[in-house]
Amino acid sequence: MADFTLRVNGSEKRVSVPAETPLLWVLRDTLALTGTKFGCGAGLCGACTVHVEGSPVRSCSTPVSQVSGKSITTIEGLGANGLHVLQEAWIAEEVPQCGYCQAGQIMTAAALLAKTPSPTDEQITQAMNGNLCRCGTYERIRKAIHRAAGTANGNGATR
Ligand code: FES
Ligand code: FES
Repeated sequence: MADFTLRVNGSEKRVSVPAETPLLWVLRDTLALTGTKFGCGAGLCGACTVHVEGSPVRSCSTPVSQVSGKSITTIEGLGANGLHVLQEAWIAEEVPQCGYCQAGQIMTAAALLAKTPSPTDEQITQAMNGNLCRCGTYERIRKAIHRAAGTANGNGATR
């Protein structure tokens, strides 16, 4: 066991866990933030995506020791004051089917929009490439990102 201090969704959290514990299990089991999902456990599907210092990271394959002292954002903390513009767009476009992959999809999309506020289709494809959806919601995800960004293919900007 070792002690780590993480800044999660703006609050400082101290946890005592083995150093190799994946960040995903610290978030879900230690901090009860269950919005972040376990999919493959091998960095291949994106279901577990969170932000570390603003960048999308696969929490299933990130040991907690690597993110000690860093700022982490999960789906619970994405919309600091209510829903994030992407969450509103996701609702408007009725994106989720089973929903399992969607927290990871939204976190990856949020990192994209933070860096590229008006992404092209190509930039969306590149950014979202590693986030798998077994239900095949990819086109609705694309529409929702465009809606949130206020770019082409959206059905009315919300920003
Ligand atoms: S659960 Fe982390 S990438 Fe699949
Ligand atoms: S909505 Fe079911 S896996 Fe994506």
